[in-house]
Amino acid sequence: MPAVVVLGAQWGDEGKGKATDQLGARTDYVVKFNGGNNAGHTVVIDGEKYALHLLPSGILSPGVVPVIGNGVVVDIEVLFEEIDALEARGVDTSALVVSSAAHVIAPYNRTLDKVTERFLGKRRIGTTGRGIGPAYSDKINRVGIRIQDLFDEKILTEKIEGALDQKNHLLVKVYNRRAITVEETLEDLLRHADRLKPFVGDAPLLLNTALDNGKTLVFEAGQATMLDVDHGTYPFVTSSSATAGGACTGSGVGPTRIDRVVAVAKAYTTRVGEGPFPTELLDADGEWLRQTGGEFGTTTGRPRRCGWYDAVVVRYASRVNGLTDLVVTKLDVLTGRDKIPVAVAYDVNGRRFDEMPDNQSDFHHATPIYEYLDGWTEDISQAREFDDLPVNAQRYLLRLEEISGARISSVGVGPGREATIIRHELLS
Ligand code: GDP
Ligand code: IMO
Ligand code: MG
Repeated sequence: MPAVVVLGAQWGDEGKGKATDQLGARTDYVVKFNGGNNAGHTVVIDGEKYALHLLPSGILSPGVVPVIGNGVVVDIEVLFEEIDALEARGVDTSALVVSSAAHVIAPYNRTLDKVTERFLGKRRIGTTGRGIGPAYSDKINRVGIRIQDLFDEKILTEKIEGALDQKNHLLVKVYNRRAITVEETLEDLLRHADRLKPFVGDAPLLLNTALDNGKTLVFEAGQATMLDVDHGTYPFVTSSSATAGGACTGSGVGPTRIDRVVAVAKAYTTRVGEGPFPTELLDADGEWLRQTGGEFGTTTGRPRRCGWYDAVVVRYASRVNGLTDLVVTKLDVLTGRDKIPVAVAYDVNGRRFDEMPDNQSDFHHATPIYEYLDGWTEDISQAREFDDLPVNAQRYLLRLEEISGARISSVGVGPGREATIIRHELLS
């Protein structure tokens, strides 16, 4: 029985939510293992749109157990806002399990996210402002607060006091903000504690037992390879492990139990926030991709930066994740182009790089070396088999497959659940 990781190959928003949702009907568990409500996953079912941030996309499939793993940072207020919004639309969220070892996002984490960005000025990361980085900093710094702490007020108070000892120096002396009190933090974190308690459990035990019993698990990444804190475009990254290894550390399931690692990649590239992006288009073509692809953030509404497909990036993702399969999404968006550029390598001050430069400055100075593939004009949104696609769309995919380091197992031709071409089953 398979355990499959679904992650992003680029800078996020590749369509991981749709890909996970599609596996939903055939999996028993969907596990979110990293990130928090910085993620925004849009899933369209029968024309109805759902935007998920903190909850795993599997929550939309009846019978699936959605799990928030220990690697996630949880904003409890947002968790219940999302649960309430889904329940109001008739989605049953009662099976949710939240790892007792997941960390929470405290109010001071949100404050610090916003003030540090402001102080960074032109060196800012362009974060989502949700307190993600500061919450992970606290975790690594060993002053974080975990879900289980919420159920022991004495320990919780001590931990908040310890954390605020540091934060208030920073807030008051460096950032010129008011100090935060223990009482207001306690009140904020405990507001939903009673409601949260029944959802909390030993997620690693649950998931490993499920595997022992032949159940199927899908691990759904937030963010993506190029935003991973180790393998992404540091420091313009998020603060968690969005790559395949993160599925293990963020869930308590060992690497020997993972069968497949699937990356989702758009047929072009987008990025939100600051940082290098070699194929970015700052011209009319970029605007065309943004409008045609509806490239505006699910979480912050920010316009996404757009550019052509970058095979160097996806090849790199294949390598650092040990990919077995690729899901290429939004092929329909490219319909109507005469020629479609695809970056196959970089030029860095006259030097050719066929693989991702190891040095950050080189990547910042990389300009794409393009190959120009023939486009197609036929509407492909109704295609359900590879052979239904116009020959140039088929050639585009086959060339992508050749230069991206993994086989293309599925292709998206529209946002709906059904708008998909399956070449190889992902759960078999
Ligand atoms: P995620 O963060 O990786 O889950 O991706 P997002 O949901 O943030 O962004 C992907 C967007 O593309 C969403 O609005 C999806 O509904 C949409 N989408 C996904 N796959 C396809 C596809 O194949 N074609 C089109 N046109 N839209 C798609
Ligand atoms: P999904 O799961 C795209 C980006 C932010 C910023 C950087 C750090 O929908 O693909 P953070 O708030 O995490 O500290 O911000 O990471 N970012 C995303 N970009 N998709 C996401 O999630 C993202 N989550 C964070 O824009 O550049
Ligand atoms: Mg998204």
